[in-house]
Amino acid sequence: MPTAVRARSGAPEETSADTRVVPLFEGESLPGDLQALVESGEAKAALRKLAVTHEDDRRVIVVGLGKRDELDPEKARVAAAAVAGRARELGAASLSWDAPEGTAAAVVEGTLLALYRFDRFKTSNDDADDDGIASLEVNGDEGEVSAARVTAEAQNRARDLQNLPSNVATPTFLAERAGEIAEEHESLEVELMDGEAIISRGMGAFACVAQGTYAEPRLIVLRYEGGSSGPHLGFVGKAVTFDTGGISIKPAAKMHEMKFDMSGGAAVLESVAAIAELGLPVRITAVVPATENMPSGRSVKPGDIVTAMNGKTIEVNNTDAEGRLILADALAYAVEQGAERIVDLATLTGAIIVALGSTFAGVFSNDDEWCAQVEEAMGATGELGWRLPLHPEIFEITKGQYADLTNAAAERKAMSSYAAEFLRQFVDDTPWVHLDIAGTAWGLGRPYVGKGASGFGVRLLVEVAKSAT
Ligand code: BES
Ligand code: MN
Ligand code: ZN
Repeated sequence: MPTAVRARSGAPEETSADTRVVPLFEGESLPGDLQALVESGEAKAALRKLAVTHEDDRRVIVVGLGKRDELDPEKARVAAAAVAGRARELGAASLSWDAPEGTAAAVVEGTLLALYRFDRFKTSNDDADDDGIASLEVNGDEGEVSAARVTAEAQNRARDLQNLPSNVATPTFLAERAGEIAEEHESLEVELMDGEAIISRGMGAFACVAQGTYAEPRLIVLRYEGGSSGPHLGFVGKAVTFDTGGISIKPAAKMHEMKFDMSGGAAVLESVAAIAELGLPVRITAVVPATENMPSGRSVKPGDIVTAMNGKTIEVNNTDAEGRLILADALAYAVEQGAERIVDLATLTGAIIVALGSTFAGVFSNDDEWCAQVEEAMGATGELGWRLPLHPEIFEITKGQYADLTNAAAERKAMSSYAAEFLRQFVDDTPWVHLDIAGTAWGLGRPYVGKGASGFGVRLLVEVAKSAT
């Protein structure tokens, strides 16, 4: 059951919730009897420290928030997650937060994201220690609180899509989800291309990845008209519903993680759902190429040459570098459809995990101004990125021996920048930001999303749509 969320006003102790949350700042005291907890050392002001007590028939959780003037939304998310975890453990059914100025949205996000569980395939639920937290109230602006709820719920839906195994979350399943999203909002339209349509549109790079599997591919397009004079945005998300590597097959050890190779697509679909629900005044074309990458008797083989939608020819020297192939056509399609500013999200390279770990997504761009806007949104949401270079010398190594491009070079040099230079060949001069989320889509480890599927990019894309207006 989803947690109901509302904005509240009035004195914090007048709530009817069974558990209220009281923040504690360094060097400050707590109201009334609660101060005794500070004096005894039981309640600490350091970030995420918790103390539990009771007043009348209500539970009180005191949470440390550090120094008041150093509090920011990210710290509030982290603290809210700690509170949510403890409150659930204690069997709380209703939670009332006295959120410090400017943190209401972050408290809603941190709480809802931390309460997320994916247990629909567990037939007996031994871990379920409770019925969950049914309601959350936070003092703050009603619009901000409800927007934060919409966005966090969208992020949790993206995590569901990520977590669903590849025998459920197939390309056609994602296409159906896109159809559902479009159905819910007047402002949205969906266009779906099947394998034949993909071929007849000249998307030879996408098609060659899809040819090796029994699962029907889909090019999923969502068009959102929120009515505005701002730039027409293009959101593009890689959705390889399972990446075996194809003929250049991956080792067995971690292959099961490759059900997450559709994380970029999941973030794009659910962020567009949130943007439509919020009614943001922007125009978006979202393009999600969805396919499996499988070895079979009809798979693309190393050395095969294909032609992308924009006419460029590509030597497929490693069938495991499939993300850049499907994105090549998806990006070209977004440009053809009139997108004026593009963001793509893709679990594209293992190398980005080596470079940036799980803390930052890799950021690559051909346009400093557009890049700065996306980076600002990253700061606001805590979905961090670190810019890495494109360079003509790296473009040189993407050139093929027999075709214009090769999807993988022999040398293991600058592999994330290589992939980005490859993608750049398909956006013309359209301002474009590529986010390599291979390290952040799962295993992020932030207290409010944990180590599993993170839904990385949903809040970021919503923020980009807000600020691009
Ligand atoms: N989906 C993978 C990238 C990946 C690897 C994401 C590990 C998350 C964890 C991608 O399709 C891939 O296989 N990339 C190769 C490219 C190489 C063959 C040029 C890689 O990075 O090893
Ligand atoms: Mn791959
Ligand atoms: Zn992949």
